[in-house]
Amino acid sequence: MSRVLISARGLKIRFGGVIAADGIDLDVLEGENLAIIGPNGAGKTTFLNMATGYLRPQAGTVSFLGQDITALPPRTITKLGIARAFQIPQLFLDQTVLENMMIAAAAHAGSMSAFRHLLDLPERKEVEDLLDLVGVRAFANRKAFELPEGQRKLVDIALALALKPTVLLMDEPTSGVASGEKLGLMDILTSALARQKVSSVFVEHDMDMVERYAHRVAVWSSGKIQVVGPPAEVLKNTEVREHVIGI
Ligand SMILES: Nc1ncnc2c1ncn2[C@@H]1O[C@H](COP(=O)(O)OP(=O)(O)O)[C@@H](O)[C@H]1O
Ligand SMILES: [Mg+2]
Repeated sequence: MSRVLISARGLKIRFGGVIAADGIDLDVLEGENLAIIGPNGAGKTTFLNMATGYLRPQAGTVSFLGQDITALPPRTITKLGIARAFQIPQLFLDQTVLENMMIAAAAHAGSMSAFRHLLDLPERKEVEDLLDLVGVRAFANRKAFELPEGQRKLVDIALALALKPTVLLMDEPTSGVASGEKLGLMDILTSALARQKVSSVFVEHDMDMVERYAHRVAVWSSGKIQVVGPPAEVLKNTEVREHVIGI
């Protein structure tokens, strides 16, 4: 049996007349890539926000490795081991890729120092290894604003991995990526996660990506989870096909 990493129980949240979470129960297991699918407005992003401390549920709890994290601030939750990628523009655009990575890694490790240059800090080696891992080492000395969109996504992944997460949450990692480049991005992303032993939750609209890269898929609908299971089963479920995938 895999260990339960994140455990959500009875999560509820309402915005005015909209119930964005209406009793969400979900476990994220060690070693898995869990996909979340569902129509716009179903509450997928709201769930990620509640799991990372950006939104506090009005009822229910989120725990991580058995510890109740429902009321903790995002920074503390990241420190415990739940990171997020593709969330906000995380890069300092005028700094190089390497500097951005060093800032993230050193801030996380608490090794920032007024007496040592950023690039001389002990995290340098692991940062360069991470850039190698996602294939953007060649861009290390380029300023972040110069990065092509595809490389920017990869740097975003490396940046999240520099926080040494146990679980990485991603809201639509392939959005804005040309369909011919999605496979390449997801291949690099999922091999990097496997290599670093990081589990993941990712919201995705492309069912080919879900089928190929998710171990389990959870279907969201009007603030509720309709069904959870292996993609091969869930994606052929008639109700899911009609209401979510639209076939
Ligand atoms: N901070 C907020 N304030 C008000 N309404 C919100 C807020 N966040 C989400 N909502 C609403 O909650 C519902 C679910 O939103 P969201 O979680 O973003 O859906 P999804 O990511 O599945 O598209 C939507 O109706 C959205 O408009
Ligand atoms: Mg969303």
